[in-house]
Amino acid sequence: MDAIDVIVTKRDGRELSTEQIDWVIDAYTRGVVADEQMSALAMAILLNGMTRREIAEWTQAMIRSGTRMDWSSLPGRTTDKHSTGGVGDKITLPLAPLVAACGGYVPQLSGRGLGHTGGTLDKLESIPGWRASLSSDEMLGVLGEAGAVICAAGEGLAPADKKLYALRDVTGTVEAIPLIASSIMSKKIAEGTGALVLDVKVGSGAFMKTVERARELATTMVELGTDAGVNTVALLTAMDRPLGLTVGNALEVAESVEVLAGGGPEDVVELTVRLAREMLSAAGLDGGKDPADALKDGSAMDAWRRMIIAQGGDPDAALPVAAETMEIVAPATGVLTRLDAYGVGLAAWRLGAGRERKEDPVSFGAGITLHARPGDEVREGQPLMTLHADDAARFERAVAALDGAYAVGGPGEVDLLPLVIDR
Ligand code: URA
Repeated sequence: MDAIDVIVTKRDGRELSTEQIDWVIDAYTRGVVADEQMSALAMAILLNGMTRREIAEWTQAMIRSGTRMDWSSLPGRTTDKHSTGGVGDKITLPLAPLVAACGGYVPQLSGRGLGHTGGTLDKLESIPGWRASLSSDEMLGVLGEAGAVICAAGEGLAPADKKLYALRDVTGTVEAIPLIASSIMSKKIAEGTGALVLDVKVGSGAFMKTVERARELATTMVELGTDAGVNTVALLTAMDRPLGLTVGNALEVAESVEVLAGGGPEDVVELTVRLAREMLSAAGLDGGKDPADALKDGSAMDAWRRMIIAQGGDPDAALPVAAETMEIVAPATGVLTRLDAYGVGLAAWRLGAGRERKEDPVSFGAGITLHARPGDEVREGQPLMTLHADDAARFERAVAALDGAYAVGGPGEVDLLPLVIDR
């Protein structure tokens, strides 16, 4: 077998055999297939697609490139959620302890921010003392104590995906649905969860800009999970505007704590409760405490505190605050008709909430607080949002990112996706 033979098969629009897939993933992980050869293959996959069998075997080969985690020693069932990423999407933070409070075990491996989208680990690291890197034994300890753990994936989990993802990022091949689906699902299946709920975001602030593409990705991932014995469901949810009223690391932690205290913005509460019910149901754990009740009776907050403390964090510590603020005001009186997720995400990124290169630190206090949502009535001069940054020099580029991202008009001009578009 050689790499050229595999590349030419896909270049000519033919199906890769099981042997070709197993060989190329293993050889690439070991460094026998060169980056330039894998880039050519990734581009051929982007252009010519893959069959369901090819995607399933590609995913299994990536799982076999590393270790698969095992939670069978826990006294209950595991269930997890994966979001394809968005702006203000802090749902994992209240969701994991909420599901734990209702009887599920949540072994959540999360990532860092990418471009204009935030990352769960960056958000949680704004809590003084909190640690993202845990060994498998430490993960098991936190799960036993709190029922939920949120941490970084170790080096041994799907190493083929780690290499391939970095390569796709610099070769214009991120967008291939077979490659996105196998990348996400190889990590989630290797994570060892018994059930999985996928939150596939749709809109300007998401990877998938249209409902059609999001549906194709969701269907592919559900098939992969189901074939691998993980009970998998997917929701398509709105990412045409930001989720909640905060965008930025510590700002989103504070909003998540409000939700765990029984308050918080309506959309964040609605999606958190909906996803919690789906996670419990996928694990066969429905019929116990309802997640809406666990947000009101303090049990979800108790699980959050146990989880943060078990990972070295202080849930009572003050969160970092940015030194400088600037207000953006409504340009006219009317209804806020538009608040574009991508524009707000890009502005928060430029304020310092995200990183430009993967080794950069993030600013924990930077980001945006929203004072109005699309559909709200606003008066000219009223604050629409507050920008937060450690350095006032960052405001100019953030304001430029917001140019055209919001508009005030008549009530008939509001055109938003439903929060939950489909299941
Ligand atoms: N997230 C992943 O883990 N992989 C992709 O390919 C895209 C998003």
